[in-house]
This record gives sequence, structure tokens and C-alpha cells, in this order.
Amino acid sequence: MIKFSKKNNLLSLHTKNTSYIMQVFKNQHLLHIYWGKSMVLTERNNYLPLDERVNMVNSDPADKSYYLEDLPFEYAFWGKGDFRTPSLTAVDGNGAVISNFIYESHTISNGKPEIPGLPSTFAEEADDAETLEIKLIHKKSGVSIYLLYTVFPSFDVITRNVKIENRGSSQVVINKIMSATVDFVSGEYELLTLPGAWGRERWIERQSVSHGVVSIGSSRGISSHQFNPFAALLSQGASEGSGEVYGFNLVYSGNFVAEIEKNQDDRVRINMGINPFTFSWKLGAGESFSAPEAVLVYSDKGLNCMSGIYHEFYGKRLSRSIYARKERPVLVNNWEATYFSFNEKSLLEIASKSKDLGIELFVLDDGWFGERNSDHTSLGDWVVNKDKLPDGIEGLSDKIRSMGMKFGLWFEPEMISSDSKLFRSHPEWALQLKDSPPAEGRNQLVLDLSRDEVVVEIIRMLKEILGTKAVDYVKWDMNRSLTDVYSSTLPSDRQGELYHRYVLGLYRIMDEITSAFPDILFEGCSAGGGRFDPGILHYMPQFWTSDNTDAVSRLKIQYGTSLVYPQIFMGAHVSAVPNHQVGRSTEIEMRGNAAMMGNLGYELDFNKLKNEELDAVRQQIVFYKKYRKLIQFGRFYRLLSPFEGEKASWMIVSQDKSEFILFYYQILAEANMPRTLVKLTGIDVNPIYKETGSGDIYSGSELMYRGYFLPRFTVDFQSVVVHFYRGDSIG
Ligand code: GLA
Repeated sequence: MIKFSKKNNLLSLHTKNTSYIMQVFKNQHLLHIYWGKSMVLTERNNYLPLDERVNMVNSDPADKSYYLEDLPFEYAFWGKGDFRTPSLTAVDGNGAVISNFIYESHTISNGKPEIPGLPSTFAEEADDAETLEIKLIHKKSGVSIYLLYTVFPSFDVITRNVKIENRGSSQVVINKIMSATVDFVSGEYELLTLPGAWGRERWIERQSVSHGVVSIGSSRGISSHQFNPFAALLSQGASEGSGEVYGFNLVYSGNFVAEIEKNQDDRVRINMGINPFTFSWKLGAGESFSAPEAVLVYSDKGLNCMSGIYHEFYGKRLSRSIYARKERPVLVNNWEATYFSFNEKSLLEIASKSKDLGIELFVLDDGWFGERNSDHTSLGDWVVNKDKLPDGIEGLSDKIRSMGMKFGLWFEPEMISSDSKLFRSHPEWALQLKDSPPAEGRNQLVLDLSRDEVVVEIIRMLKEILGTKAVDYVKWDMNRSLTDVYSSTLPSDRQGELYHRYVLGLYRIMDEITSAFPDILFEGCSAGGGRFDPGILHYMPQFWTSDNTDAVSRLKIQYGTSLVYPQIFMGAHVSAVPNHQVGRSTEIEMRGNAAMMGNLGYELDFNKLKNEELDAVRQQIVFYKKYRKLIQFGRFYRLLSPFEGEKASWMIVSQDKSEFILFYYQILAEANMPRTLVKLTGIDVNPIYKETGSGDIYSGSELMYRGYFLPRFTVDFQSVVVHFYRGDSIG
């Protein structure tokens, strides 16, 4: 999997279908040679022919054809003649740039090391994963960089991360440290990203890569609704089923950046890592710093193939939660049903109706603590409000459990209301600048998770409540971006570390709490999908995808999210109409069919539904439970994009291809339209597949090569979910 050819100084990584090759070149520079479809290089000397060029800075006086700006680097440095956006910028104690690191050595080992303090994917023995660690050195300063690559041959995945170590005698300041850089030697690419906003997260956007730098990222302290820490370079015109795709995803929940630069020679560089705009790190003598992991996926069969690789890998190697491979319960959440106005009686009324409909988990959302009757108060005062819940959380949980359901509870542990007992006793625990009042977001402030005592208190509080064993599920919310990022406990020359220290504090809490309570199912939330990233998903195997619960809006949100993240990660709820976010009314079938593509839940008061709607809900839950394993763990394929028209369709195929479910949604209807013939994918060619409802039979080849006629809908917002199973093989 990982090979070193001494003759040519080639280091090559091989997965089942891909190769990634680098070379220790002249001057001990580590260069990027190739990444793509599996390939063999013959032994030659000239993988990168050098030519004399005009008006370029000559970095090696002895070689008039050696220009750093012309070379593809594996990790890039600024200051000696490579003028592209670098992987690292660091200065020594005199303020002088440390650049031009050179290869010193490498090691190859089995398995995959953890990254201290940071979440990451992991390897199991059966994976035959190997890790290459390459040491680059800067002799004068004594600073070393370790580039780590783990190869997962059967998953077709390569992960990367970077450690920097200061073995010199004086301090160094890091201003930028990327987790991965890839210099594509040539090629015309499109860039695919997942921009958005609250309520319309992870929409798909494509643009051609032209000269200059395009940068996406977050400086909000969270990975954000506005951009997901994901970017892909695509060969021009690549589609769901064809073309080359290079995916980059950062396992990080704070400020990140992805920079894509096309230079004068049409070489394309991509960097991904912590956003340098809000970052600096002082590295004292003897200290080291680890950057988060980036997960790299290549597909030569388009986007569906790339997504399939991410889905399988993340489904199995991202979260160690015991729920990662377990079927998830159908839940009801009281938020949109009651908002802050509830009491035990009204909750139990919803719960009892829910149980009757087949719901398995009742989740009590915001409003159960302190004086929390609106979003202006009480975050930080995690003591039950006895006016609403006279028997406390434990009393309510007992009652829910005795109905035969599990009980879940909402927290927003990272926050503090200025109107709270906690703030009155510890105002200094909130992030705030010295001489100006902090900006509020959703009327709340953010706790300073760089402070040890704050982290310790959050852990204590959560352990106390969860230690009662009254809670089976936790919804972990986080409802605002960070501002006023200043900590009175950090010295002035370390304030640039605060955003990252916040994330490290958060990971420490999540690690400790999820390890202490392995039986609790944790769901991440950040005003919906504001932190839907692999960092959080490492600790919490599901995430509330968006606060927008409208079925039509969800088509785009879930379609975009599926580019990287498997459907089982996506919390998807049926809510009331008119929808609370967009005012749209859709039928209960449409709402159920949209939510059923992910991790199904309900977020409404069943007591307000008509009998026909209740019957529909009951049937939805029966159907979902019947096919839950297939839906939650099957292989997901996108068929028709809601970004390209008024129709959306996708399908989920069981791992053994013996059954699949097809989902089809009509958004706005047009008069007098024909049926759509859609080509299915991912099933076997030879067998026959029987449509469960109609009993119609099709060959796999017909469904894939000729297609399947979708129903003709003549009114807006219609949908259908069709199950097929494999019959006898034909031919
Ligand atoms: C956020 C969440 C919602 C709900 C509210 C409660 O907006 O995304 O699902 O929990 O907070 O305040």
C-alpha cells in the first residue's frame, strides 16, 4: 500500500483504485507527482522535466532551471520563490520567515495514530491501514514538520494531517498551518462547494477554477451554515456518474479554509486547514502542534462514487459510538409543537399520542431549565424548572419510559445568557473584549472554552444530570457564531490561539462526556446544520440537518448534505403546516417521504392532526421501521437534482443489492407534462427486481440502462417512495 522506491526516491500510496505519488526531488524538496486512478510509474529520472524559463526567481543558483514557483509541492512554503498561497507560514523569534523545509526521513507503520486533542477517523485491524510519516526539517530554526498520510486500501481513502515540532532553542510563531496541500500539475477543473445560510444549508455550487485564488471557509468560530468544510475539484463537466472528482473534507468544527489557486502555468493548488485569518500559535522550544485531519477521496466515476466512498468510510470509521452501526429510533421532538410553552401535562399528551403512533423516543427540547420561557434567559442555569416539570427530569423520564419510549433531552452547554445566575456569578466566563459589551447572538453569549474552569464546570454539570440515568439521548445545540473573541486568561501574544483553543475545549468536553455515557445516543445541533462536520460527527453519530423542516426546502438541503455525509447522519423531521420557516403547506405524505430519506423524526403536536393524517403517520412509521436497516445503512445514490429542476430523486440500495428503495419528489408541477424515465444505478444487472406494491418485474439491466418511468404528478409537492426486491435471476 505504501511503497518507497529508493532508486527514484518515490513514495507511493495505493488504495484499491487509486494511487498517490510523491518524490524526494533535487535539493531534498518533497514534490507531488500524481494523484488519481491506480497507476504504475516506470523507473525514469524525469517525472518533472525542468526547463529554463524567463523572469522567474532562481532558487538554486547552481541550476538555472530550478524554480520553486514552477514545482508541485507536497507541502508548500512561502518566502524563497514559491509565490502561491502556502501551506505554512511561520516566523522565528526575530520575526524572520521560516521557509524551505526539506525532506529528512520517513517511516511507514501499520494502523493509524490518533491526533492528540482532536477527533479523527480510525483504522481497524482488518483495514490493513498503513501510515506514512514524512519528516521535513528546517535546520537553522530546529523546527520539523511531520506530514502524515494514512492509506485505507479497501475504503479507497487517504487521510492526511500535519504536526509541527519546535526542537530549537527559541520560540516560533505559526500564522498558518494547512492540514493538506495538493498541487495538481495541470488540468482544467471545476470547484464544487457547499455554501448556504441558516435554513438553506449545503446547497451545491459549481464554478470553474480560473486564475487567482478562490477561498471558502469560516471565521465564525464554528464550521458554519455558510460553508461546509468540504471542497471538491472536478474534471470539467463531471456528473453524478462520470468524470474525475477529488474530494477534501476537514475533520474540524471551527474556523477553516479551503483555498484553490490557479497560477500562471495553470497549475492548481488546493490547501485545506484551520483558517489563518483568525489564527496564530506560539510554539515554545520543545513544543509541538497538531493540525486537524483532512480526508481525501478520489473517484473517476463522478460524484455518486465519491459520496459512496465518504459514506461508507464515515459510517464505519468516524464515530466510535455504539450507535454508529445501530438502527436509530424514530423520535418526536416537542420544539415546533410547543416552543417554550409546555408543562408536564402537555408533554405527556404529545408523548402518549406518539407512543400510539409507533414513536420510540420522546425528546424534550429547549425550555426545561431555569427561567427559560423565552430565548432571552437562563442558559448556564441547568436546573430543572419545577413550575413546568414538578417531578423534575427524572419524574418526566420515568413517565415517558413507562409508556415504552426512551427519553431525550436538549442542552446548549457552550452558552451563557447575560440574564442567568451563572453570568451574575461568573461574568468573566463569557468571551468578551475588555472595554466593550459583547455582541449578542440569539440574545446569548458564548462561554470561554479556553478556560479550564469553564470546561471543568460544563463536564461536571453534564455528568451530574446524565449521571441520573434518566436520559437516553442528548441533543447538543449551539446557536450562535463567536464574536468578542478575547480571553482575559490568555496573554496578549496568545489571543490568536483562542478560536482554536475554544474548539479544543469543546472536543475535550465532548470526548469526556460521550466516553462517560456510551449508552446515550448523542445528536449534534447548531441552530440546525451550523456544525454539520466530521469533527462533531466523530463524537455524535447524527446531526440535526437544518432548522428548516419544510419538505421542499429539505430536498435541496439533504441532497447537498449527501454529497459527503451518509443519510443516517441526517436528522429529518416531519413538522406542521403551514411550515414555520417558509409558510408552505405540503401534504403529510410529502413531508413523510422527505424525512424518510434520513433519520426519521416528527416535530409537531400529534393531537392537532386530523385522523387521516394520523393514519398516514402511523403507516409512515410502519414502513420506515420495516425498511429502516436498508434506509439507514444502504448505499445512497442521487438520481435527479432539485438544483436543476422541479424534480428530485434518489435511491438507497442494500449492501447485498437484494433490495432498494426509490424516492421521487415533484416540486412545482407544470401542465401537461410527460412522465420522466429515470435511470437507476448501483443495483445488479442480471437479476429481476420486483416492485413491492405493484408486483411489476424488471431486469436490473432495464432499470439501469433503459430506466424506470416515474409516476406523473399533475399538482405541486407530490412524492412517492417505492420498494423493490430481487427475484429470480434471469439469463
Ligand atoms: C435551535 C435548534 C432547534 C431548537 C432550538 C431551541 O434553533 O436548532 O432545533 O432546539 O434551538 O432553542
